[in-house]
Order: sequence, then structure tokens, then C-alpha cells
Amino acid sequence: MNVTVLGLGSMGTALAGAFLDAGHTATVWNRSAGKDEALVARGAERAATAADAVGASPLVVVCLSDDDAVHHLLGPLTDELRGRTLVNLTSGTPEQARESAAWAASHGIGYLDGAIMSTPPGIGSSAIMLLYSGSSEAFAEHREVLACLGDPVDLGDDAGVASLYDTALLGMMWATLAGWLQGVALTGADGVDARTFTPVALRWTAAVNTFMSTYAPQIDAGVYPGDDATLAVHLGALEHLLHASAARGLDARLPQLLKAPFEAAVAAGHGADSYARLIEGVRAPHPA
Ligand SMILES: NC(=O)c1ccc[n+]([C@@H]2O[C@H](COP(=O)([O-])OP(=O)(O)OC[C@H]3O[C@@H](n4cnc5c(N)ncnc54)[C@H](OP(=O)(O)O)[C@@H]3O)[C@@H](O)[C@H]2O)c1
Repeated sequence: MNVTVLGLGSMGTALAGAFLDAGHTATVWNRSAGKDEALVARGAERAATAADAVGASPLVVVCLSDDDAVHHLLGPLTDELRGRTLVNLTSGTPEQARESAAWAASHGIGYLDGAIMSTPPGIGSSAIMLLYSGSSEAFAEHREVLACLGDPVDLGDDAGVASLYDTALLGMMWATLAGWLQGVALTGADGVDARTFTPVALRWTAAVNTFMSTYAPQIDAGVYPGDDATLAVHLGALEHLLHASAARGLDARLPQLLKAPFEAAVAAGHGADSYARLIEGVRAPHPA
């Protein structure tokens, strides 16, 4: 099958390369000249214009810097896109994705919004996820082709959901990496290098995974039995992190930030509840 890829930045180049690796033909286009050379050398077809590129394939994948760039490029190409499927792998917000889906529907364009849960070197591996939401017909029709980019995860008909998950998962990534950096700095201050600390940290993240599985049903039920570790116990342990960070002259803003919701929940009388209780403060950060 021929696939069109619009945008040959780091990610678009990896996407087009994965289509070629899987035996598809690819038509590629990029705003600035020169970024397509390696792909053309591997057999990709260079399109002179974005309109030509769109016209070359039933499946058009776009991966540009942001939502404005996508609409700037594709806004004038609705006639060329009509009757084709547009897979938008450009990162954005759920609101932008829903607006794009409505725009596509109003022009007879099949639309899937996607989120790539990888950096370019991971593209082509079934170990990485690409999240999709939008037209279920388009997903069913193109699932097999899209699978050559990574495991395609269908999140349903609401086009905003892939971006919703993407933003949530990136938030988790930054929070996890920030905690890891604090740990690297803390242990590093006593002479442990990052490569020594990290394998132990990775084993710990596996345990933390099980905590999420325990707390998810508690959150869904709105009931937080503190039968594993109570908020009061967590608060005591957090004091150790604050103390150890301060004693080593480290930035203690992250431990302080983490401590605040525990303190508020304990002060409100929830010290015997589980960690999952803190969801209430996230949902309503300024209780009356
Ligand atoms: N890199 C990652 O690890 C990663 C992971 C997940 C998701 N993503 C998402 O993938 C998207 C692309 O990322 P990237 O890393 O490939 O970025 P990049 O290397 O900076 O490439 C950006 C691409 O957008 C094009 N572009 C920007 N404005 C444009 C416009 N007005 N009209 C036409 N083309 C335009 C650029 O064209 P020129 O070459 O002409 O400038 C280039 O092809 C982003 O939304 C990013 O968040 C990236």
C-alpha cells in the first residue's frame, strides 16, 4: 500500500522509514528541501508539493511541530483530502484533536488522531505504543498498515482521547523522571553514581506499578482503606526525604511539593486512609 507522510522532522522521517521497512511504498513531502534525501535513496517517492503528496495515497500521515502548522498546511487541501484517511500524529491537546476531527468530518475526510508513545528510535518496534482515537472505520481499515509503526492501541471514537491519554502519560513520565533525578542527586551526594543507583530504582518502579493497580479500584469506588500504608506513615517517610535532601544541600522543592497534599489530607482527618485518598485533592485543589 502507498502511504503519504507529510513532515520529515525527526519523527516523520522515522515514520516514513518504518513504512518502507515494512514493504510499503511511501510518498514523502517536507516544507524545507533536503530532509527527504535518505528516504528517497531507500525508495520513497518525493512529492513536489503537499497537494501532490496527499493525492498519491489513500492514507495520509501528518507529523508536524504543532496543530497550527497542520491547519496552515492542510486547510487549503480539503479537496485533495476528501475521501482519504488523515492520521494526525502531531502532538496536541484533546480540544485541538476534537476540532480537527470536526473539521475533517465537515470535508468528508476520514480522521484518526494519534499519539506516539516513543522517541524516533523506537518507531517500528511492536514494544512501543501508538494511541489512536477517532473514526473506527478508518482504524479498522488501516490498522494493519499502522501496526508497522508500533503497537496500535484503539481508544475509541472520540478523537480527543488519544491526546488526553498522551498528556496524562507524559505528565506521569515527567513526575517519574523528576523523582528519579531527586534520587540520583540524593544518593550521588554520598558517592553513588547514577548507573549504580538506577538498576535498584528500576526494581522499585516495578513495585510502584503494583501500588497503582491496588489504588485504581479504590479511586473508582471512592473508598480508601489504609490497610497497606496510611497517609500518616507516608508523611513520616517524606520528612526523611526532606531532611536528607536539605542535609546534602539539594533542591528540596520537589519533596516539599509532594509533602503538601499529605499534610492537607492528614490535617483534614484522613491520616488513616491509603495514598489513593489524595485523588480528592487533585480533583478539588481548593476545598472550601
Ligand atoms: N521527537 C519525539 O521524540 C516525539 C515523540 C512523540 C511525539 N512527537 C511529536 O511529533 C511531532 C514532530 O516532532 P519532531 O520531533 O519530528 O519535530 P521536528 O524534528 O522539529 O520536525 C518538525 C516538522 O514540522 C515541520 N513544520 C513545522 N512547521 C511547519 C509548517 N508551518 N508547515 C509545514 N511543515 C512545518 C518541519 O518542517 P521543516 O523541516 O520545514 O522545518 C518539520 O518537518 C511533534 O508534534 C512532536 O510533539 C515527537
